[in-house]
Amino acid sequence: MSPVKPFLVTGGTGTTGSRVRAHLTATGHRTRTATRTPTSTPGTDGEMVRFDWTDPTTHAPALDGVGGVYLVPPVGDPDPAASMLPFLHRARGAGIERVVLLGSSAIAETDGGLGEVYRSIRALFPQWAVLRPSWFMQNFTGGHVHARSIRERGEIVTATGDGRVAFVDADDIAAVAARALTDEHPHNTAHLITGPEALSYADIAATLTRVTGRPIRHRSISRTTMRDRLTTDGLPEPFADLLAAMDEAIATGAEDRTSGAVERVTGRAPRSFAEFVGSADLA
Ligand SMILES: NC(=O)c1ccc[n+]([C@@H]2O[C@H](COP(=O)([O-])OP(=O)(O)OC[C@H]3O[C@@H](n4cnc5c(N)ncnc54)[C@H](OP(=O)(O)O)[C@@H]3O)[C@@H](O)[C@H]2O)c1
Repeated sequence: MSPVKPFLVTGGTGTTGSRVRAHLTATGHRTRTATRTPTSTPGTDGEMVRFDWTDPTTHAPALDGVGGVYLVPPVGDPDPAASMLPFLHRARGAGIERVVLLGSSAIAETDGGLGEVYRSIRALFPQWAVLRPSWFMQNFTGGHVHARSIRERGEIVTATGDGRVAFVDADDIAAVAARALTDEHPHNTAHLITGPEALSYADIAATLTRVTGRPIRHRSISRTTMRDRLTTDGLPEPFADLLAAMDEAIATGAEDRTSGAVERVTGRAPRSFAEFVGSADLA
């Protein structure tokens, strides 16, 4: 792979993509940010290109001259393969050898939806990695539904019961992604990426209470009530249903696990939630 070619970073303005760009830039690599609203032009430093999963005419220009691709699927699309597979075939046809896909710990290769994209990447590209991160610590910051609920009502509402999740810092996911894109030897594997410990949402609320000095609690509701809340909040019903089902899976212990992937790939331990909260902007 030529070191002078930029990496195309889809979702490059988002939670992991922006951090992947930062890691690549810090290690001397060029990036091209794929976004629906570019504000700088191709060929310049920190270049951006107009890219929309739903607009295939934007795909070939985004891929032109790139050395590898970080893939963030179209957010909330129940059938991401429909737009991603033609793009992946085009990328391979353009000679791109290495891609790194952002998946999810909740989605396995045998699943439908994004699982189909995992399988296609493995089949199409000689150099690949699928990242399967646990839930992001950043879900408790910014405009995320949990962050708003904490700010407005001092509570986190889920259908997870006492189930535990090994929340992970998006920066640790990005560090793994950058290594998967640039290591001399391709990873050619799926990385299950977690933080250092599995925590219940009540544990999360207790840490937030301690750090912010504001009482914050976890309230667990049923899966159907959760789905209705998310649809009322503006999510399309299939996506709300999927997220509520994921909560129910957490309640049964599906995410109660840790992996050593961050340390194995980057050489340093993943950040704990307490460390994250200590430096996060929770306003
Ligand atoms: N949050 C979690 O706990 C968690 C856990 C595991 C996995 N994940 C995975 O992380 C991904 C989403 O993360 P996030 O919610 O933090 O989102 P995000 O990465 O912050 O934001 C979405 C990004 O996607 C881009 N985008 C949105 N619609 C697009 C379209 N039609 N075409 C091209 N680009 C588009 C946006 O770019 P522009 O607006 O600039 O165009 C933005 O950069 C999902 O695939 C999810 O499965 C999340």
